[in-house]
Amino acid sequence: MNRLYGKVAFLSGAARGIGAETAKLMVSAGAKVAIGDVLDERGRQTAKEIGESAIYVHLDVTSEASWAEAMDATARKFGKIDVLVNNAGIFNGKGVEEASLEDWQRLVAVNLTGVVLGTRAALPHLKKTKGNIVNLASIAGLVGSQLDPLYSLTKGGVTLFTKSTALEFGRKGYGIRVNSIHPGLIETDMGEKTFVMRAQQQGTNDTEKARQATLGLHPIGRLGVAADIAKGIVFLASDDASFMTGAGLVVDGGWTAH
Ligand SMILES: NC(=O)c1ccc[n+]([C@@H]2O[C@H](COP(=O)([O-])OP(=O)(O)OC[C@H]3O[C@@H](n4cnc5c(N)ncnc54)[C@H](O)[C@@H]3O)[C@@H](O)[C@H]2O)c1
Repeated sequence: MNRLYGKVAFLSGAARGIGAETAKLMVSAGAKVAIGDVLDERGRQTAKEIGESAIYVHLDVTSEASWAEAMDATARKFGKIDVLVNNAGIFNGKGVEEASLEDWQRLVAVNLTGVVLGTRAALPHLKKTKGNIVNLASIAGLVGSQLDPLYSLTKGGVTLFTKSTALEFGRKGYGIRVNSIHPGLIETDMGEKTFVMRAQQQGTNDTEKARQATLGLHPIGRLGVAADIAKGIVFLASDDASFMTGAGLVVDGGWTAH
């Protein structure tokens, strides 16, 4: 696979999980990658494991100044930016009544403001390269989530922001594609947290039972792994998806086929 030969990608929240797996796959597809995260030690380790085609830069997606520094560092190192993956995200797992105002504000800051700031910061670079953006939404941005309605509200926003920015950049003639990806349950730290919160909502500590219940929502018969989503992101970021913009790629083991 050599679908991203010569491309430079910036991935937010890629110290671990889906982002880290995507960074690895992008490099094996021929790209150079910059990993931005608040988890500095883990991020540096991930970049080191990937090798010289990867750098780590500190990034707090909720800060405009942090985005500006991260974009500058990436362009200084690799000369340009072709792809932005707005991957950083958090999950809360509380109901509307249980979540505090601070919980909600934190979700908005990372899952929504982070995507807006990333898009704006990358735009001058993507205009030059006629690059593209992949936003990590969720199936919770397509259908309702009884587990975390506030998370669902933020991911629904990401779904429509993807379509709206695709339209805006099209109208302006930028040649920049914007697409979203919608994972089912993926076995990462965040995936693990959903089992804990599902169990808690049922008044138990039985995360294995919660895991089995989640598994039952996937007709394909297994939960997802980070590589399932990384492959979709690489496809969307590559020229193989050159006729796709404003689209959502659902990679959910059939969850939303119901
Ligand atoms: N795991 C799933 O089941 C699942 C399902 C649907 C969508 N998603 C989405 O996929 C994306 C990646 O999730 P994951 O499963 O790899 O989760 P994860 O928790 O393993 O990784 C998320 C990363 O985002 C980083 N991050 C959090 N706040 C940040 C901030 N302010 N600035 C910079 N980085 C920050 C974390 O440090 C972490 O490295 C998220 O947007 C998530 O909502 C995940």
